[in-house]
Amino acid sequence: MKSTVTEVSSDLYRISAFHPDFGIQFNQYLMVDDEPFLMHTGMKKMFAGTRDAVASVMDPSRLRWIGFSHFEADECGALNDWLAIAPAAAAVCSFVGAIVSVNDFADRPARSLADGEVLPIGRHRLRFLATPHVPHGWDAGLFFEERDAILFSSDLFFHPGDPEPLTEADVVGRAERAIVEGMSGPLANDMPYTAETDATLKRVAALAPRTIALMHGSTFRGDGRKAVLDLAQAVAMILGKPASKTAAT
Ligand SMILES: [Fe+2]
Ligand SMILES: [Fe+2]
Repeated sequence: MKSTVTEVSSDLYRISAFHPDFGIQFNQYLMVDDEPFLMHTGMKKMFAGTRDAVASVMDPSRLRWIGFSHFEADECGALNDWLAIAPAAAAVCSFVGAIVSVNDFADRPARSLADGEVLPIGRHRLRFLATPHVPHGWDAGLFFEERDAILFSSDLFFHPGDPEPLTEADVVGRAERAIVEGMSGPLANDMPYTAETDATLKRVAALAPRTIALMHGSTFRGDGRKAVLDLAQAVAMILGKPASKTAAT
């Protein structure tokens, strides 16, 4: 599987591999800075392709931070491969993620971030938001790059196929169709709708991202606040419907 590298924002490289078995893209994002940051590692079996793609931009052994949203193979499956080739690298994730999974799984301990904590990496600053169960997983969180307003949205806005690297077109419609189509498949119910889901998405929208660096599908450039609010509305309509009540007799 070959990865395609696209500079989607200043210092930000999208590393995308289309996996024919899944019919979806797996995107990693490399932010080149004093302390280079990789958002998601991709699956362990994808490591060689991701490493070679990073090497086309910078020396992979310089990697300092490996961020991800939640503990899953496509988020951090190749973490230990990265720790092995980058001596100063460390995982950076939520407190829950570190204590529940990563500090056992990883060959070196993770740096855990509290909700709202900022990780400066040089010219860029990454704010961490703890977002339990958004997109899914108790340990879930999202990163937001403050200078250029880039939201690393993980599985939010998921859409299948092998679309263009960067789009200003409607990604909410694509994501909405994917949620509806996914409900009748074997991977249904990936995103739980909890009492906190709407408030969490509105908090993310308030960051007013101008780029949304999503894991599966085109990177979005445009009015990210509107896109996240529209997604919140779609998710509420599709997943948040109260269960139909049986009339009392
Ligand atoms: Fe996920
Ligand atoms: Fe994912």
